[in-house]
Amino acid sequence: MSRAVASPHVVNIADLRRLAKRRLPRVAFDYLDGGAEDERTLRENCRAFEAVTFHPRSAVATPSCDLRTTVLGVALDLPFLLAPIGSSRLLYPRGEELAARAAGAAGTAYVLSTLSGCRLEDVQAASRGPVWYQLYLVGGRDVARHSIARARAAGFSALVVTIDTPVSGLRERDVRNGVRELASRRLWSMLPFLPQLVARPRWLAGFVADGGLMKFPNVVLAEQGPMPYADVGAALEQSMVAWEDLGWIRDAWSGPVVIKGVHTAADALRAIEAGADAIVVSNHGGRQLDGVAPTLRVLPDVVEAVGGRVEVLVDGGIRRGSDIVKALCLGARAVLIGRAYAYGLGAAGEAGVTRAIDIMRSDLVRTLKLLGCPSIGELDRSFVEAPAAWRG
Ligand SMILES: Cc1cc2nc3c(=O)[nH]c(=O)nc-3n(C[C@H](O)[C@H](O)[C@H](O)COP(=O)(O)O)c2cc1C
Repeated sequence: MSRAVASPHVVNIADLRRLAKRRLPRVAFDYLDGGAEDERTLRENCRAFEAVTFHPRSAVATPSCDLRTTVLGVALDLPFLLAPIGSSRLLYPRGEELAARAAGAAGTAYVLSTLSGCRLEDVQAASRGPVWYQLYLVGGRDVARHSIARARAAGFSALVVTIDTPVSGLRERDVRNGVRELASRRLWSMLPFLPQLVARPRWLAGFVADGGLMKFPNVVLAEQGPMPYADVGAALEQSMVAWEDLGWIRDAWSGPVVIKGVHTAADALRAIEAGADAIVVSNHGGRQLDGVAPTLRVLPDVVEAVGGRVEVLVDGGIRRGSDIVKALCLGARAVLIGRAYAYGLGAAGEAGVTRAIDIMRSDLVRTLKLLGCPSIGELDRSFVEAPAAWRG
């Protein structure tokens, strides 16, 4: 392991965040770290975990702890997957490939964003674990059909359809840091925002050597080829997924479909009606509609409404293995982690992602031992106390 991310330099995910902040220019760090508008939901996602307390069973011997699970019938060594993070290549050269490789080496799955800077075939080849493909309808139906076919041919094992992005949330840090201007490739517009890049020469050298501002090789537009980075905002606005789309998407994919971005029990039921095989309770890490409830808060409601018909995953605000344990106790089959591994990627590339996964794994084992529970399969509500108002 790279010394920079070994203990005692890095003890927890917050340490990886600190290192990422030091290595990345402000525009890239804030892209990763920030949320929408006042960032209330971003903060609340994390705070919700503080409202849940543990009920341990002391003096119970747990010589080994079993962290294995299955999601959609696929065996995983860990109860967490790596969430789709668009443009990971801004965080580290060939970021998506590195993150996928680290996930596979740890025995878990990587979810690749449509808005990836790396070719989906290369990402699949980089990992020896399962890879899932996250779908946005950028570029329209035919473009999506084309990438779905590529993902299937490449061996992606599930399709994750994100439904909470009819328009991009207002991420005010991105506006202030000049994301639009920097992507414009017009020197005069870029000029005021360039000093932040020059202030991080090591990052800048890696970024330039990696090809600079990438295109999106999995969004191949008719006649134009891969979609340029600059078009993302506009493209997202024309790419919302409606429930009616799930039919043709399922037909095109003909494999397991996961619906990501469910905020309420009512939408969980709609997702089941639409043929979802699993759902992810997610508010996009507080990057879309600011003011929605934290995901952990709505998880029990959703789990109750779903009643075991499909697997329920959750993401948002997970920064420690004990957070994962709380989510599993409240009924999640597994969780997705987003920033927790992406801080590692931004801090030190693959070594940083591996370190983030190791931190989560050892947190999980320690938490299970302290709870007196030998396996994640045995976690249930009796191990936690959640506020009375949280139904489910
Ligand atoms: C920088 C960044 C980019 C993201 N890009 C995508 C994306 O392309 N597609 C998607 O479905 N979700 C995307 N998400 C949301 C994550 O998949 C996940 O839902 C969220 O990060 C979970 O919250 P957490 O970061 O607190 O763990 C992104 C999140 C971040 C932080």
